[in-house]
This record gives sequence, C-alpha cells and structure tokens, in this order.
Amino acid sequence: MSESSDELKGPDLEKGMEIGALADGGMVLGHAFGQAILVARCGDEFFGIEAKCTHYGGPLEQGLMVDCTIRCPWHHARFDLRTGEAMAAPALRDATCWKIEKRESRIFVTGKIERKRVRRPKSSPKNVLIVGAGAAGGAAAEMLRRQGYEGAITLIGADEFLPYDRPNLSKDYLAGKAQEESIPLWPPDFYHEQKIEALTKTRVAAIDPGNGRITLSDGRSLGYDSLLLATGAEPIRLSIPGADLPHVCYLRTLADSRRIIEKARRAKRAIIIGSSFIGLEVAASLRERKLEVTVLGKHEHPLENVLGHELSGLIRETHESRGVEFHLGRTPATIRDREVQLDNGTVLEGDLVVVGIGVRPNTELAERAGLATDDGVLVNEYLETSARGIFAAGDIARWPDRRAGRIRVEHWVVAQWQGQAAARNILGAREPFVLPPFFWSNHFDLEIGYVGHGGRDDRAIVSGELRARDGSVFFRKGGKTTAVVSVGHDVENLEAELAFERGEEFDPISGEQ
Ligand SMILES: Cc1cc2nc3c(=O)[nH]c(=O)nc-3n(C[C@H](O)[C@H](O)[C@H](O)COP(=O)(O)OP(=O)(O)OC[C@H]3O[C@@H](n4cnc5c(N)ncnc54)[C@H](O)[C@@H]3O)c2cc1C
Ligand code: FES
Repeated sequence: MSESSDELKGPDLEKGMEIGALADGGMVLGHAFGQAILVARCGDEFFGIEAKCTHYGGPLEQGLMVDCTIRCPWHHARFDLRTGEAMAAPALRDATCWKIEKRESRIFVTGKIERKRVRRPKSSPKNVLIVGAGAAGGAAAEMLRRQGYEGAITLIGADEFLPYDRPNLSKDYLAGKAQEESIPLWPPDFYHEQKIEALTKTRVAAIDPGNGRITLSDGRSLGYDSLLLATGAEPIRLSIPGADLPHVCYLRTLADSRRIIEKARRAKRAIIIGSSFIGLEVAASLRERKLEVTVLGKHEHPLENVLGHELSGLIRETHESRGVEFHLGRTPATIRDREVQLDNGTVLEGDLVVVGIGVRPNTELAERAGLATDDGVLVNEYLETSARGIFAAGDIARWPDRRAGRIRVEHWVVAQWQGQAAARNILGAREPFVLPPFFWSNHFDLEIGYVGHGGRDDRAIVSGELRARDGSVFFRKGGKTTAVVSVGHDVENLEAELAFERGEEFDPISGEQ
C-alpha cells in the first residue's frame, strides 16, 4: 500500500495498443478520455475498467486478477471485470467499465459502458429488519436491494449517524487528513432512493423469535419475516479511580472521534492506555496533530501475540522514530486531571487520555432471545443463528471458518462481507461464507495487511525485508500456513487469501504451495 498517483500513465488507449502486448491473465494500465483505465485480458476477451479502486483509490493494476475479476491490493475489494460490480467490500461503488474494440491486431478504448443491473432473488421474505446500522448492517441493506429484493427493509441503529467509515475514525480522520464529508458510506439520499427505512438513535430492546417480533426501546413493536443481527461491539471500560473524568475518552463511534479531536485541539500531551491496534493508531494520529504522545501497554511487546516478534518490534520502532513514547509491561492505577499513575507508582503527565483496551461483542439481545451464544452469536456457514429466520454478521458472529474452525473476529471487511453474504442468504442463495478473515492497520507509513487466522503459539517465519516495507510474516502450525501478514507484499497477501479461500495450502517460502 502506498500513494496512488493521479498522473496518467501507460499507452493512450484511444490510439490503441497491440493485442500481442497483453498475455492471457495480463493487465495494462493506460488511459483514454483523460481517465486512467486498466485493460485486462481474460482468454480472448478484453475488459476496460476504471483503474482506481472505488474504496480509497487503490491501484488495481497492482492487484490480483482471478478469473474475470480483479482484487484490490490495498484492502481486498473485488470487482467483476465484465460489469464493474463491486462484488465484495470495502468498495461499495461499482467501477466504470469501458468499451474495448478489436481492430486487426490492436485494441482500442472507445467509450464508457452504461449498464443496468436487473436481478431477481430466489426467494423474497415479506420484510427484513436489520438490527445495527454499522459495517455489516449497512452492507446487508445495500446488498438486498442490489439483488433485486423489493420488500420492505428497515435498518435500525442506536448510533446517531447512518453507516460510516469506522476504520477511518482512528486513522486519517482523527489525524486531520480526511474531511468529515468522506466518512458516511453512502450519501443521505441513498436510503430514500433505495427505499431503505433507516432509523437512527433507535435501540432494539428485545427480540421475540417465537412470534417474529422485536421491541424498540421506545416501546414500539415491529414484526419481521427475516432478521439480521449486526450489533457490533462496545469498548471495554476501565474501572480504576478517575476513569470517568471528562478528559478520558474511548473510541468506537464518530461522536467519540469528534470528541477526541475537540479535546486534542486544547491538549498538549496524550496518554494512550492500551497498545493494541486502536491505541497505536490513535497514538500515530495524535502525533500527526503534534501532541506529545505516551502509550501505556500491559504487554512488553505491542501486538506481538497477533503479529509476531519482528513486526511488533518494527511497529514500536516506527512509532518511536516519530516521537511516541512507550511505557510497557505496566497498567494504570489512577487517573487524575493532568496525570496517570501507573501500577509501579510512576506518574505520567497528560491532559488527554484515550483508552483502547479491547471490545466486547454486543450479544445481550441474542442471549435474552434465547439464541445459541458462546463468546459471540453462533451461526452456521450460511450465517444463520439457532433461531429460524434470524441471521447474524460482523463482530458478534462466531462462524465455522473452513481452516481455523469456529472463530469470531473484529475486522471491518469481514463484517461487510458477512453482511453481504447474509443478505444473499436471506434471499435464498444458500451461499456458505468461505472468505478468509482479512484486516489492515496503519501506523504512520507502515501499512499492514493480515489474512487468515493465526494462533498465539504459531511459528512466525519472516520472508523479505519488513524494515524496507517489503516482506511478509508467515504463521505456521502443524505444517500449514494459518495466516500471512504483509508489509508492501500486497499481491502475496492476495495470493494467500485466494489459496485459503480455495482450501489450498500457501507456503511460498518452501515452494510447497
Ligand atoms: C476506531 C476503529 C478503527 C478500526 N479500524 C479497523 C481497521 O483498520 N481494520 C479492520 O479490519 N477493522 C477495524 N476496526 C474494526 C471494525 O470497525 C469492526 O470490526 C466493524 O465495524 C464491525 O462491524 P459490525 O457491523 O459488526 O459492527 P459496527 O460497525 O460496530 O456496527 C454495529 C452497530 O450496531 C448498533 N447497535 C448495537 N446495539 C444495538 C441495538 N440494540 N439496537 C440498535 N442498534 C444497535 C451500534 O450503534 C452500531 O452502530 C476498527 C474499529 C474502530 C472502532
Ligand atoms: S482502496 Fe481498494 S479496497 Fe481499499
């Protein structure tokens, strides 16, 4: 992952290019009509598609072509080369497709293709209620309409805002590098146009699976034919003296991120409690805002249990080289107005405290409704819960991953992919969820992509030069690769994802793929 430039590169495709210059499965970045266009060859067919990913503009020519689809190197969105459809999140807008004409030995881009999608779902429930308007819930609502579902959709969210780009809340938005206009996943009129009834600041208080009804916190009751539970997770709160002081913040919602930004404007020194992904991303973003930043973590090596020793060291070095201070192997004992006292008596000065010590899945609704739960809502491969007509997706769902067994993860794209898959299954697709987990995390110029699901005691093998932002760590157990974490090696990460998805082994180090 690196900057994607706006400069037009490669052949002028209005003037054409030789067919022989593009082998089967090959891609060429060129331009026509002032736009960057990727031309891809799939057998004897040629496709033209806008060259930048519709998520954050990732360079699709650096991605992976699989059959007649292209996967983005940055956060693994997938596009259908024939139609431009954003088949898998985090891209939510289709890519523009371009007409290609063959004339003798050359191909030419001759204009845009305008397409209208017409789909009919296999089955249509009378109505669908979606509880939770976050990553999974929003993606599900959009996918229901995309599949041609014409029944009523109600998207119910406790948050005051409609679905937004949560990962950005600790990254560019918090750092002051992304404007708030870029944060909503869809414009407000999208819901009206798509006839999605979107309720904000509305909490579902109870579900009655026997009668197919839910109760809202204001006492209203709604019936459902199909229900998707996508209630996400809540930050774990600190319970030490001073934890409720006004300068102590948590980060889950847009309102939380705004609050931190507001306080950061007046603060000089921030103390981040928790050295996991959120804590470290907040540390990086607040450094970008020129605050002095100290990270306090209970483990000696930040993120070592997830990313291994080498990457843990590199992440720490990267933060330290930008001025972040660490106090590791310590926990906070007391928070006061302008300081935090640690368990060993050390006192750290700070006028802003951000706590990132993990999250807890919001499973109470499911538990009270009698659904099967076990550190998450248990779902089968179709994302169905133990109650008929109720599906679950995202941070709350514990599903049977084909390689790792029953797992629950807290990853943005997994939540969106599951929301999309659940929507198709609500409409009768009977499509097992087989995508391997993937997440990304940014720390200044260090951008990490993680695919698979490793365990704490897996062996970590480094390939390439992590420090040069050009390598991967392979996690291995029982002769198999469980996860691959890449820094710069985006295609390798996509190849690992493809192998995991297909149930194949992935071991490029020894060559026994
Ligand atoms: C700051 C931050 C940065 C992150 N960065 C990354 C990243 O870089 N990469 C990555 O992979 N993941 C990242 N994540 C994790 C990712 O955002 C989550 O995994 C993802 O949002 C989960 O989606 P979800 O739909 O399950 O839940 P959410 O997106 O949390 O949505 C759940 C929604 O349900 C609502 N809700 C809860 N209970 C009720 C109820 N009873 N009634 C009605 N509504 C209810 C909540 O208000 C919420 O809006 C980040 C998370 C945070 C907080
Ligand atoms: S930029 Fe392509 S998936 Fe994010």
